[in-house]
Amino acid sequence: MTRKIGILTSGGDCPGLNAAIRAVGKAGQDTYAMRFIGFLDGFRGLVLDKTIVLESKMLSNILTIGGTILGTSRDKPHRMVIDGRERDMTGAAIKTYKRHGLEALVCIGGGGTQKNALRLKRAGLNIITLPKTIDNDVPMTDISFGFDTAMGIVTEAVDRLHSTAMSHRRIIVVEVMGHRAGWLALGGGMAGGADVIMLPEIAYDVNRVADTVRMRSKAGKKFSIIVVAEGAMSCRQATQVKQLVAGKDAAEGRKEKEKASRRLAKFHAEHLNHTMEFTKQLEELTGLESRLSILGHLQRGGSPSCSDRLLATKLGSACAELLDRRKYGIMVGAKGDGVEPVSLEKVAGRKKLVPLDHCWIKAARSVGTSFGD
Ligand code: F6P
Repeated sequence: MTRKIGILTSGGDCPGLNAAIRAVGKAGQDTYAMRFIGFLDGFRGLVLDKTIVLESKMLSNILTIGGTILGTSRDKPHRMVIDGRERDMTGAAIKTYKRHGLEALVCIGGGGTQKNALRLKRAGLNIITLPKTIDNDVPMTDISFGFDTAMGIVTEAVDRLHSTAMSHRRIIVVEVMGHRAGWLALGGGMAGGADVIMLPEIAYDVNRVADTVRMRSKAGKKFSIIVVAEGAMSCRQATQVKQLVAGKDAAEGRKEKEKASRRLAKFHAEHLNHTMEFTKQLEELTGLESRLSILGHLQRGGSPSCSDRLLATKLGSACAELLDRRKYGIMVGAKGDGVEPVSLEKVAGRKKLVPLDHCWIKAARSVGTSFGD
């Protein structure tokens, strides 16, 4: 009997999603005689039963294409806005799964997706996930697909910004994605030879950054490139956020908790513009003309790199094999040259941040890169 498997992509898109859909689908169809249906726009498609049948021809010619042929969204089944109201739609998701007679559901996504997947697993569905994100912050996997491509884009941007910074003798601040984890800023900044790299994991002092720029000027280097992760914080901001989080954890009662969460959300919303303020501050402190370049969604667009194509294909084909062996409730992690199935409980709700003693940080410091600390 043909086995029927569902597949969806959820969270922010990234290069390599189509390569993963192709790998799961082709290996599943050709090697294990499975049939696949795709749910559109992430978990919303599962809840609202919006599907397409993933026939062989749909899986051809998508390896190199960015984005996802299935569409994506950040919707969560347990808190989905339907007709303007937030509702728990877990029951509807389960009904769709059963209506299609699915044997399992493959969820491809980052941190939020892993959490939603665990909830569905606990609700009784057979789930396997694959880790994708340009942030590279999914735990229990060496790397996630999307990261290598985005790092290449950041590196190219930093390369290109060098010549214009040099010509105008300016400071160029480059804002890179990554709210909580600084992998992208670190990898792209190092590969592009940035002079200062600012990460969410290391609180910075703008005076230290200005010192680095001034020292470069004294040494005859009249320009500086500063790569900033969008979640990087000054020492004062980092202390503030720690206090707000502690306040939220300590809050008792629903009203108090909501109040504390709103205060934290307000802080994060205001923090969104911090790189512009930082750039102005740096200009004032150094007297050097400064410009800000925000790379934004460019980092998530376009064709996946060779490494991401290989990674997505490796993880996707291993996923089909694990489906065949009926190994559910797991994420297919990358481990060295191979893969490692990890239980969703060990993945969901956790983030892989940059360890302060990571070899990239050590190497960067040893070649004179400042982290603003
Ligand atoms: O989840 C990956 C990510 O690219 C983050 O680095 C970034 O902060 C966020 O998504 C942006 O999300 P959106 O596209 O929903 O604005």
